[in-house]
Order: sequence, then C-alpha cells, then structure tokens
Amino acid sequence: MSDVDITLRPWRREDLDLIKRLNAPEMTEHLGGPEPDTKLKQRLERYVSAASGNTRMFVIEVSGIAAGSVGYWPREWQGQPQFETGWGVFPEYQGKGVATTAIRLLMDEARRNGINAPIHAFPEIHNVASNALCRKAGFRLLGTEIVEYPPGNPITVNDWVVDNPKTYSPNR
Ligand SMILES: CC(C)(COP(=O)(O)OP(=O)(O)OC[C@H]1O[C@@H](n2cnc3c(N)ncnc32)[C@H](O)[C@@H]1OP(=O)(O)O)[C@@H](O)C(=O)NCCC(=O)NCCS
Repeated sequence: MSDVDITLRPWRREDLDLIKRLNAPEMTEHLGGPEPDTKLKQRLERYVSAASGNTRMFVIEVSGIAAGSVGYWPREWQGQPQFETGWGVFPEYQGKGVATTAIRLLMDEARRNGINAPIHAFPEIHNVASNALCRKAGFRLLGTEIVEYPPGNPITVNDWVVDNPKTYSPNR
C-alpha cells in the first residue's frame, strides 16, 4: 500500500457505524473494553465538534475507505499544558503501515495548527502493537507511568513523546 493512498478527514455526524467499529472488543482490549451506546454517541459528538481549536480528531482513510481513527487533544501532564494522541486501525488494515503514515499526517496537521508543545502517547505496557507503533513512528520513550483509564481504573502505561510537531521527523 502506498503512502499517498492514506489520508485524514474530519469526523462527521453520519459516522456512528465507524465509531461502533472502533468500539469492538478487539479494538478496546487495552482501553478498558467497549463503551455503552449512549457514551458512543457523546464521543461521536465530541469528535465532530473537534474540527477547530486544539482538539482534532480524524477518520483515517485508505483510498477513500474508512480504516481507523487518529487525533490529539490538550492534556495537562506533570503540571504543564501538553497534548495526548490516540489511534485505532480496523483489523483488516492493520500491519500495513497505515497507523505509521496516519501519525506522520497528524503531526503535519498539528504543525499547521500551530501546536508547539509535546504530544504524548500512553499505550498500556502490554499493548505490543501500539508500543511498536510509537517506536516505529519516532516517539521517544520516557518511562512507565500509572494513569486512570477509564477514570477510576488505574493502568500501567509507557509514556512516549514527540517533543514538538514542528521538529517531528518520522525517521529519527
Ligand atoms: C496499534 C495499531 C493502531 C497499529 O496500527 P497499524 O496500522 O497496524 O500499525 P503499522 O502497520 O503502522 O505498524 C507500526 C509498527 O508496529 C508493528 N506492529 C503493528 N502491529 C503489531 C503487532 N500486533 N505485534 C507486533 N508489532 C506490531 C509493525 O510491525 C510496525 O513496526 P515495524 O515496521 O518495525 O515492523 C492497531 O494495532 C490498533 O488499532 N490496535 C487496537 C487499538 C489500540 O490498541 N489503540 C491504541 C491504544 S493506546
């Protein structure tokens, strides 16, 4: 699959079926499991509203077909205003470099959006695919942390960072 086939587009109100696919048990194994439908509708609304400002959420498309989701949002971390990123690629598109390219496109977008602060990813330590993705996509490993996800559920994660999208290079 060529990089040029992979694009990002904003979420739309009609994308409820896509958000349901992201909510499948195999997609949420390291994210606290599937959410109930009412929460999914609220999540979709948040994603659709995130078309401007410092929160941006995108559908990843491969040749115009939805293949997953990627985005970033502000998060205070260790007393500093920073950002967090998250992602999911549907099983039939996994292992083909889709997420790696989507992250490069996301960092390009963050740079255009004037984001000038660290962007962290916090994959659970046993999430082999997501940790491999961070390494492949050029994030720097800072160490392990305990975070609550979902709220009230402490999990051990790796803290990976892109120090600044302005200087991001996927090949570092
Ligand atoms: C994590 C995820 C987005 C990766 O997407 P992807 O498009 O398959 O990733 P890529 O093809 O770009 O692969 C990136 C790197 O990760 C590695 N990788 C991907 N899946 C892997 C797996 N299951 N086991 C080991 N390595 C894996 C790839 O081999 C590649 O590294 P390499 O080129 O050095 O071999 C996808 O597995 C997913 O959606 N998982 C479920 C949701 C999830 O866990 N989200 C993240 C929560 S933090």
